[in-house]
Amino acid sequence: MSIIDNTGKTATVPAPRDGDDYNGPLLEVRDLHVEFHTRDGVAKAVNGVNYSVNAGETLAVLGESGSGKSVTAQAIMGILDMPPGKIPQGEIFFRGEDMLKMSYEERRKIRGRKIAMIFQDALSSLNPVLTVGYQLGEMYRVHHGLSKKEAKAKAIELMDKVKIPAAAARVNDYPHQFSGGMRQRIMIAMALALEPDLIIADEPTTALDVTVQAQVMDLLAELQREYNMGLILITHDLGVVADVADKIAVMYAGRIVETAPVHELYKRPAHPYTRGLLDSIPRLDQKGQELYAIKGLPPNLLRVPTGCAFNPRCPKAEDICRTEIPALAPVAEQDGTELPGRGSACHFWKETIHG
Ligand SMILES: Nc1ncnc2c1ncn2[C@@H]1O[C@H](COP(=O)(O)OP(=O)(O)OP(=O)(O)O)[C@@H](O)[C@H]1O
Ligand SMILES: [Mg+2]
Repeated sequence: MSIIDNTGKTATVPAPRDGDDYNGPLLEVRDLHVEFHTRDGVAKAVNGVNYSVNAGETLAVLGESGSGKSVTAQAIMGILDMPPGKIPQGEIFFRGEDMLKMSYEERRKIRGRKIAMIFQDALSSLNPVLTVGYQLGEMYRVHHGLSKKEAKAKAIELMDKVKIPAAAARVNDYPHQFSGGMRQRIMIAMALALEPDLIIADEPTTALDVTVQAQVMDLLAELQREYNMGLILITHDLGVVADVADKIAVMYAGRIVETAPVHELYKRPAHPYTRGLLDSIPRLDQKGQELYAIKGLPPNLLRVPTGCAFNPRCPKAEDICRTEIPALAPVAEQDGTELPGRGSACHFWKETIHG
């Protein structure tokens, strides 16, 4: 057996079934619903989420704690706790095939190999009693049948790739011997090992301090470009996504409330919630001013307000907002020209973007 090269193909490995003639979106989530059946009732954590990611594209998913970012990712990855979780409705297409209709075995082949995930907490994701080199090498031993020695060489290569200094000397170290930033690089290396088409990074830098955050984010963006992977970057921090994401989906109480190309979202938000998030970013040019914070808290999913879930916290809320759930509608210029890739689930998006 030969090793799979950077293009994912060699003469001895058969071309994937879904081959190179597929040119639709890499991943497409359609009308996804996820609920949790708990003792206290049914918590609707995800309520009709739609998004897509292409090869080489970065989608940032943004929103406060509990908005359903991770649950959506777990549904895509096939690692949702079921029960108590349940997917009553929706489709998740990976290269055009609905993964929710696949057998356990088909799904397992995608997980890790085609779609990999990076979590926030590297220390609890890595095995503390095995060396980093062993854990990285395991991917090659198990999936590609490499010998121990070959796998170790591959592990060093990967550690170099994620810029861990003196990789050859550190390959036999244990996870706790690395700093937080270095451990997160190791997690990136693990995700890259099988050269997936899509990486889902769930708050990959949240546990790190600010300068290290930027380095890890830059590394992730660089590797994503090099491998032409799709990337879903989950974060609650608008500050970290501006330079790396192509487009953003803002989530609130299990729904996408705004979507936009990244720079447009910063320039002209079309949802009061997004505006609130933007206004809460500390800015160097406004030193000394009190920092804005969106008043109130995200809703308890067992008692979501009627109408728009954001209405109790919204400075623009009117009667209609308390009775009618706004659909994610296209956003347009004042003259009616639709803005590509933009949508807002606000009854007053016009006033918000143009007002
Ligand atoms: N296994 C579970 N059982 C019951 N409820 C769950 C479970 N997992 C998630 N939830 C609920 O689903 C909702 C969405 O959670 P999720 O983890 O997706 O939030 P998030 O947007 O990722 O937030 P954070 O920024 O805190 O990570 C939350 O209210 C959470 O309590
Ligand atoms: Mg989360």
